[in-house]
Amino acid sequence: MTTAIEIDSSAAHVMQQMVYGVYIVGSHDRAGEVNGMMADWVMQVSFNPRMLAVSFENDAHTLANVRDTGSFTVNLLPQDEAGRALAARFVQPYDGAKVAGRSDEEKGHTHHKLDGVAYRLSDLGSPTLDGAISWVECKADTFVALGDHTLVAGRVVGGEFRRESDALSSSYAGWTYCG
Ligand SMILES: Cc1cc2nc3c(=O)[nH]c(=O)nc-3n(C[C@H](O)[C@H](O)[C@H](O)COP(=O)(O)O)c2cc1C
Repeated sequence: MTTAIEIDSSAAHVMQQMVYGVYIVGSHDRAGEVNGMMADWVMQVSFNPRMLAVSFENDAHTLANVRDTGSFTVNLLPQDEAGRALAARFVQPYDGAKVAGRSDEEKGHTHHKLDGVAYRLSDLGSPTLDGAISWVECKADTFVALGDHTLVAGRVVGGEFRRESDALSSSYAGWTYCG
């Protein structure tokens, strides 16, 4: 008989096999401090109105920013080594204490991931990366609590298509967030 644990382990492998985009979600707090977060779990969820959803870890700093200001950007990176290197700058959480097993020194560290990264601010104040091939800006519309994540569906209110390019994906980057 197949046990629930075996099914869950198989499901984890299937989830890892799925192809995701690797996006940088830009956000800011009311004081104007900006943050960037690497996210796989991003997708369009409505044509009319045009909406996009991101699933955030419940303790992500980005989620707190989105609750604070009601907006965020989603940056698409090129599927090449430059895009991969840019994405790698956003691999840490804002708050070093968020990852289990870190040293005390690391736990006290705040990662200002946009330091040294070229970016501008969107109309609503979130970062748009100079290295992005395109970006959109969303106003948060609906928050759905889903286990250890919160799905935020946002209305697309702005953005810029800059150039044709494949967008960075999990299969190219070789990083996985699933399982
Ligand atoms: C490849 C990859 C994909 C990720 N995708 C997501 C995601 O879709 N949602 C999420 O909340 N965190 C995701 N994370 C984790 C966040 O990037 C980040 O580390 C964090 O937990 C939240 O960052 P923040 O506190 O600066 O907002 C991903 C991490 C990696 C390495």
